[in-house]
Amino acid sequence: MRDRQTDEFDKKVDELRTKIKGLDQLKVRDDVFDEYTLLGLYKLLSKGWITAMGGPISTGKEANVYLADRDGTPVAVKIYLTRTANFKKMQDYITADRRFINIGKSRRDVIFAWTRKEFSNLKRAEESGILVPHPLVFDRNVLVMDFLGDEHGAFPQLRLAEYEDAQAVYDEILEDIRILWRKAKLVHGDLSEYNILYGKGHPYLIDMGQAVTLDHPHAPGFLKRDLEQLNRFFSEQCSTIEVSDTLDELCGSSLQ
Ligand SMILES: Nc1ncnc2c1ncn2[C@@H]1O[C@H](COP(=O)(O)OP(=O)(O)O)[C@@H](O)[C@H]1O
Ligand SMILES: [Mg+2]
Repeated sequence: MRDRQTDEFDKKVDELRTKIKGLDQLKVRDDVFDEYTLLGLYKLLSKGWITAMGGPISTGKEANVYLADRDGTPVAVKIYLTRTANFKKMQDYITADRRFINIGKSRRDVIFAWTRKEFSNLKRAEESGILVPHPLVFDRNVLVMDFLGDEHGAFPQLRLAEYEDAQAVYDEILEDIRILWRKAKLVHGDLSEYNILYGKGHPYLIDMGQAVTLDHPHAPGFLKRDLEQLNRFFSEQCSTIEVSDTLDELCGSSLQ
């Protein structure tokens, strides 16, 4: 049954739709901008983190990424899709993460926590010294980060990038994995040529929502898979280091 509170909430959401500059042009998927997303966007807008929304950079099942403007500087806005994201998988991963023991059980709670988790992972990764998009702020299921790109647009994913020295790129990504493990105490967990952008001569690791701390039961398995993915992609391009050697180096032979 509808009550006055619901009506007022709907009215507020309708107002937000017209207030958020650029939003009316985003017809990608109507269900992206449910009321919580709108409230999140509105909050970020009223606090000045976003000045106007631009077009989509990427649309997926878990999240959409939009270009947005912050006082003349481009930023990337990642919006987790509260309706279509794989909530069950997120729940499995997040409940084993000690940083997130007290989150609620609803779909919304889990997706909001996931957004917070990606923010926190990016921050830890950045602090350890590797190249990732600098995370600016998050609200509900909306994460704002630096836009990785230049005057030609967003940096390409590694699979589409052109680089001269494959060995140097491979070595740099492998070093990122090592630094993540040793300093940030994190494993990316979904590393691939899709989740690495390449620009200004360097690889940038992105998409860190699923990254876990070393005490997570998935950590060793994730590390092995990340290393295998990296070697698969580069195997024809340059010489690669055996996955077992890196596993030995980072976590000892017990994990193989
Ligand atoms: N900070 C950013 N700057 C520029 N492009 C980005 C940024 N973050 C994501 N993208 C683009 O959006 C795509 C999807 O982002 P990602 O974080 O991998 O989300 P998904 O969960 O949908 O895979 C990326 O492959 C990249 O092309
Ligand atoms: Mg991705």
